[in-house]
Amino acid sequence: MPQNNTALELEGVSFSYEGRKDRVLDGITTRFARGELVGLVGKVGCGKSTFLMCCNGLIPREVKGDFSGNVSMLGHDVSRTGVQEIARMCSFVFQDPQDQIFNTTVLEEVKFGPIACGMGAKQAEAASRAAIREVGLPGFEELDPLELSAGQRQKVAIACALAQDSQVILMDEPVSSLDWKSTMDIFDILTRLAKNGKTIIIAEHDTEVLLENASRIIAIDSGSIVLDGKREVLFDPRIAKLGVRVPYIARLANEMGITGDYETIKRRIIQKF
Ligand SMILES: Nc1ncnc2c1ncn2[C@@H]1O[C@H](COP(=O)(O)OP(=O)(O)O)[C@@H](O)[C@H]1O
Ligand SMILES: [Mg+2]
Repeated sequence: MPQNNTALELEGVSFSYEGRKDRVLDGITTRFARGELVGLVGKVGCGKSTFLMCCNGLIPREVKGDFSGNVSMLGHDVSRTGVQEIARMCSFVFQDPQDQIFNTTVLEEVKFGPIACGMGAKQAEAASRAAIREVGLPGFEELDPLELSAGQRQKVAIACALAQDSQVILMDEPVSSLDWKSTMDIFDILTRLAKNGKTIIIAEHDTEVLLENASRIIAIDSGSIVLDGKREVLFDPRIAKLGVRVPYIARLANEMGITGDYETIKRRIIQKF
């Protein structure tokens, strides 16, 4: 039975891309509650992007192949829900912002989603201006997104997701082109949104930043979820075997023979000095 704090639920989700026999996802079943900030990890090509695209129905609606299983978002069967309705519930930040930017000014770009989802013009403008400030781009409102750097365009894409105020936010390596300070700022925003009940699923290579911010980690390998739990999952010896970077503190704790949860490990390492 779905619980009422369920934001997203996948049941037996399998997918092979058109023309390929191998299953990128092979019977994935999992549930995401409201307020979770989930880090999705696994080696390149393990299916993180595919997983995210199944969550919002982009697979199989736009990306063709052999899909089976069920995805339910906020109680709606994604396969039977219109694109606009899904867009109201869920924002998607692509790995390459080029894939989603098409307006001629930053403000128009950020406003587009909220207006398309039925937000009033005034409210959409206020939400968009606030989101542009939040991602660290004040003063960029009237610029052409195409004149911005890759990192700045990625911030515009993140601002689009923030302005839309959707319950579910799916992000595909959104900070890979950002500097450290911008990455910290974005994760601060995401942590705050999750505290306010948004559900955020983020494919991310940077396990250090996930360790600090994620409330849950899911590792994918060979089409399946192989590890799923609190951030301490990143300390699991299997993480390295999956081709995922082991956070520095985990290696240090291992060398020093310290075990426990993240906070305990941090405290014990500090006590040693
Ligand atoms: N459009 C596509 N057509 C065919 N195969 C694809 C397509 N997109 C991804 N794949 C394949 O699916 C697998 C998973 O890809 P992806 O979900 O992009 O992994 P990740 O995001 O973890 O790097 C890879 O083997 C990749 O080559
Ligand atoms: Mg990917």
